[in-house]
Amino acid sequence: MARLVIVSNRIMLPRAHGERERAGGMAVALRDALRARGGLWFGWSGETADATSTAAKIAQSGRIQFATIDLGRADHDQYYNRFSNGTLWPLLHYRLGLLEFRQESLDGYLRVNEAFSHALRPLLRPDDLVWVHDYHLIPLAASLRKHGAANRIGLFLHTSFPPPALFTALPRYEVLADALTAYDVVGLQTEDDRANLSSVMTTHYRCGTTARGELDLPTRRVLLCAMPVGIDAAAMAEMAETASAGSEQRRLVDSLVGRQLILGVDRLDYSKGLPQRFEAYERLLSGFAEHRSRVTFMQIAPVSRGEVRQYRELRRDLDRLAGRINGRFAEFDWVPVRYLNRSFSRQTLAGFYRHARVGLVTPLRDGMNLVAKEYVAAQNAGDPGVLVLSRFAGAAHELTDALLVNPFDVDAMGEAIHRALTMSLAERQARWRAMMRPITTNTAVAWQETFLKLLQNAAAATAA
Ligand code: F6P
Repeated sequence: MARLVIVSNRIMLPRAHGERERAGGMAVALRDALRARGGLWFGWSGETADATSTAAKIAQSGRIQFATIDLGRADHDQYYNRFSNGTLWPLLHYRLGLLEFRQESLDGYLRVNEAFSHALRPLLRPDDLVWVHDYHLIPLAASLRKHGAANRIGLFLHTSFPPPALFTALPRYEVLADALTAYDVVGLQTEDDRANLSSVMTTHYRCGTTARGELDLPTRRVLLCAMPVGIDAAAMAEMAETASAGSEQRRLVDSLVGRQLILGVDRLDYSKGLPQRFEAYERLLSGFAEHRSRVTFMQIAPVSRGEVRQYRELRRDLDRLAGRINGRFAEFDWVPVRYLNRSFSRQTLAGFYRHARVGLVTPLRDGMNLVAKEYVAAQNAGDPGVLVLSRFAGAAHELTDALLVNPFDVDAMGEAIHRALTMSLAERQARWRAMMRPITTNTAVAWQETFLKLLQNAAAATAA
């Protein structure tokens, strides 16, 4: 079996003894893929230095070999803060108004991709399957090919992908389009994302697609496919059950004194629709007075990308909103909103999910949103909570039995939360069972097996 090489900006280095698991769903899915199969995981060390490393540091943990490079401070700023987070992130989440473009940031982005490829190339064996993840590294395959790599190389984009009219607003978008033609397979979360990318590429290159959905380019066939990323549902369910007997869970339950918990867990990011969510909760309290003093909304939102202006502004807005709602509705023995800018271990979160009567996952746009799937998987089958889910999260394509909402409509969202809080046990159970079907079928393992099979076969087809 060919060796698997995973490349991603962030990687999950082995934890020091006793350190708790804090990584997000994507990193966990990649680690599980590598644990099952063995292989190499290449990425950024998480450290900045005076200059970007020219060679990787190697470490071994079980069947996984880790290879990492440090990034020079200036490179990190142009590649990560400015181009990845200041240009690509808003673009891929349909937020042209937030997009900032500078040629020097694009140059920095290409330079760091070149540095990744320079350090990775000597580690590659001819038959390695190389699987690149996310928008930080779109140019990586082209760079590896320039340095002679003939490997099968695939990309999975974990974010959404916008329609052509938005994507082509990016100055020099053709640099990214060209870079994509160096892959054998490009995976996206949903059929909408796949169709959007396909439309950008077929228009730009004036090419057709084959019956299998490959772009029929003069140089190579690039297979575009939709495959939603999944979770290890059984592991999440077990973690949640164990955590519900733990001390943090007990403290949470005691502190609620019988109130129903409404829970949100998101990075502090403008794509997550947090101001609209806070306002929806405010509408719930103003429109349905029976819930006052009977519910608690807990929003866990660890600070993210604090070096980017829009993220700092969002933080200020949310501080204000949380203060306003608490000032308006709090009683001497009840605080309506608990707003926490910190992270928790996955174990602790699993227990919190299980206890929450309502899970709020209401992004304005999201590639998938694994919190939605984790929340459902963590529920107690006998007394499950209700997921209120944005139509604009990739997860909504599979979890059609959630209470689907338009996050731009805060009144309707407030009503949906009311409906979730008052839903009968029979309806909660029926919806939960229906949502568990795709969650237990499209697991993280099934997702990676499907992708790698396509990558192997696509390469065979190209070579033939
Ligand atoms: O949604 C795509 C994604 O790559 C997630 O996997 C991850 O949580 C996030 O974007 C990137 O976050 P960060 O900028 O902290 O690496």
